[in-house]
Amino acid sequence: MFSNKSILITGGTGSFGKRFVAHLIKHYTPKKLIIYSRDELKQFEMQQTFNASCMRYFIGDVRDKERLKAAMREVDYVVHAAALKQVPAAEYNPNECIKTNINGAQNVIDAAIEADVSRVIALSTDKAANPVNLYGATKLASDKLFVAANNISGAKGPRFAVVRYGNVVGSRGSVVPFFHKLLDEGVKTLPVTHKEMTRFWITLDEGVEFVVTNFQRMQGGEIFVPKIPSIRILDLVESISGNREYEEVGIRPGEKLHEVMVPEEMAHHSLEFEDHYVITPAIKFFDKTVDYHKNKLGEIGQAVAEKFEYHSGTNPHFLTVDELATLDKATI
Ligand SMILES: NC(=O)c1ccc[n+]([C@@H]2O[C@H](COP(=O)([O-])OP(=O)(O)OC[C@H]3O[C@@H](n4cnc5c(N)ncnc54)[C@H](OP(=O)(O)O)[C@@H]3O)[C@@H](O)[C@H]2O)c1
Repeated sequence: MFSNKSILITGGTGSFGKRFVAHLIKHYTPKKLIIYSRDELKQFEMQQTFNASCMRYFIGDVRDKERLKAAMREVDYVVHAAALKQVPAAEYNPNECIKTNINGAQNVIDAAIEADVSRVIALSTDKAANPVNLYGATKLASDKLFVAANNISGAKGPRFAVVRYGNVVGSRGSVVPFFHKLLDEGVKTLPVTHKEMTRFWITLDEGVEFVVTNFQRMQGGEIFVPKIPSIRILDLVESISGNREYEEVGIRPGEKLHEVMVPEEMAHHSLEFEDHYVITPAIKFFDKTVDYHKNKLGEIGQAVAEKFEYHSGTNPHFLTVDELATLDKATI
């Protein structure tokens, strides 16, 4: 699907972008892989590893629509991964988060329509479901923009879909590297915001593969949610430190005890497939005949139960301490 195609990745120097590029180079022969991000140093460093002839490095901000339009010329597929994603930073600098995550999303949509790209997938987060912090709220607004973009792109224009998933094991600024850093500094008791906390847990490779497959599945307008395991925070502490000793430091502003990926309020238009869920658009304008029960790969989905909710605390699949330790060794 990606061989001989041009693919642009906003936020291509981030954790997701680099792994996505590695995956495409390993499994396909893309015509062009365009990295779109702001910081020249991150791009320079990425070029030391990713220097295949298909690689292109564009300095640009998603807040700059004209630059995005130039970067998307003759592009087939776009992955929109650029975002401000630190919850406290978003609370402290709300307008900056809005400019990147919401205005930036609309710019990506406008540029994709103008450049007539074929398909766009935007990355979202569990924090966008029933959001309680500004980061989540901006990602929810971004999700809504991408779903609705199908209505303005016309019957033959680009198709837009969203991929929503939970905590990425070991990603920049996340809890696993934080715990390792504290232990390396000699801290004996790890800080835990609340001992009952649960989270959805996905590896970067699983996230990349899910995005790649959804380019093949998508019809436009879907929010794709993978079926992934949950973790209990004290199991994570034990898997990293070897014991369950912790210091409870209290829930941080904008933090939830559990996360949700498919809210109960969305159950009436959500579908279950073998390894994922799909939240279908509440309003369908662009193609009233599209049937989300059967995707482009021919997979069949069923309506979820009326009060269904995909919730990290009630998820039937939790990772054990041993599984977490194995995963930790594989990702550090
Ligand atoms: N990591 C997770 O646990 C997780 C979980 C669920 C969903 N997600 C979502 O997955 C996506 C990718 O996350 P990630 O972990 O790869 O993030 P990351 O490692 O922090 O990378 C973010 C990327 O976005 C770029 N960027 C930031 N602001 C930009 C702007 N205004 N214009 C252009 N590029 C900009 C950054 O480069 P520059 O700073 O050089 O511009 C960087 O390349 C995000 O949309 C995030 O919301 C992440």
